Amino acid sequence: MLKILGRVLLALAVALSLAAAVVHFRYEAHRRERIAFDPPEISLPTDAASLAEGRRLVQVKGCYDCHGADLSGRVFADAGPVGFFAGANITPAGATKDYGVRDWVRAVRYGLNPEGRKLIFMPSTEFAQLTNEDLGKIIAHLRTAAPVQNQPAALSVGPLGKVLYLAGKFPLMFQAELIDRTAVPLESLAPSTEPVYGKYMIASCTGCHGADLRGGPIPGVPPEWPPASDLTPTGRVQTWTLQQFATAVKTGTKPDGQQINPAYMPWTSFAAMTDVEIEAMYRYIRSQ
Ligand code: HEC
Ligand code: HEC
Repeated sequence: MLKILGRVLLALAVALSLAAAVVHFRYEAHRRERIAFDPPEISLPTDAASLAEGRRLVQVKGCYDCHGADLSGRVFADAGPVGFFAGANITPAGATKDYGVRDWVRAVRYGLNPEGRKLIFMPSTEFAQLTNEDLGKIIAHLRTAAPVQNQPAALSVGPLGKVLYLAGKFPLMFQAELIDRTAVPLESLAPSTEPVYGKYMIASCTGCHGADLRGGPIPGVPPEWPPASDLTPTGRVQTWTLQQFATAVKTGTKPDGQQINPAYMPWTSFAAMTDVEIEAMYRYIRSQ
């Protein structure tokens, strides 16, 4: 009996370490791949109003949630076997200190560092479609932000993170693999309450609520996080008034008085959205 059990256990151990080796090998191939890509130059504004708008956009687009309130980097997801994720220091004293404008565009819009390495958990699919005008304001603000000396903790991907990624269940891993580098971004888009502008704004919500806004478990975060809610016509948000929607998105308070934990949904960032932006998103999700 014991002998058989011993053999079974041995076979299992061999199978497991083989599987682990295969996962590691396949993951490493993706991690090591470099993508050489020189995005077109964009022009940066220098006037005070555009720089102030750039600061607001940095907040609305959630850069603070992962890069910290002073942009010097922070741990935003300590997700056990999935991994340990920290945003880079993106102040002029950090990882971006030698960045040219093209480097900024490559990182924010395409998820690649200057050497063509695919950034991990940097949600560039949300930023890829930003207009040149909005991206220019964001970059202009970041380049003039206060330099902060800080070396954020090193990011690491755990065994479960690698398995999830290889199974196609962790789209936030290497977003550079998901972005169409031949798409030509719009030069600008005038803010309005029209659904077309709502679609533009709601890209900020797709990292958690999904590209189709159907919600569900958020890939790559610790298991205690609640699933993101369904924002499509099958979700309860469809029955909410514009005011109720605005209150939930900007203060985290739902119509039933329940509070959304800002660690799970970054409404502290969305608080800087304008009424026009909120109404456009509201009209967009109701037009689906
Ligand atoms: C969901 C979390 C998250 C959000 C939101 C986010 N980032 Fe990142 N970002 C990261 C992580 C993690 C890294 C480090 C990735 C790596 O080194 O592989 C990163 C890296 C970067 C880098 C590259 C730095 C380097 O090492 O060269 C830049 C630039 C950057 N982010 C800018 C931004 C800007 C601008 C925004 C807002 C528009 C933003 N990020 C929003 C997570 C995020
Ligand atoms: C970092 C992840 C994340 C992002 C980004 C995010 N959400 Fe959420 N959202 C969640 C989670 C998680 C919940 C569920 C919270 C709960 O149940 O307490 C939620 C809940 C909601 C709700 C409540 C719906 C309901 O039925 O209770 C609304 C409305 C909402 N989100 C809108 C948005 C909008 C609009 C955006 C983009 C501007 C957005 N969210 C971006 C994670 C996110």
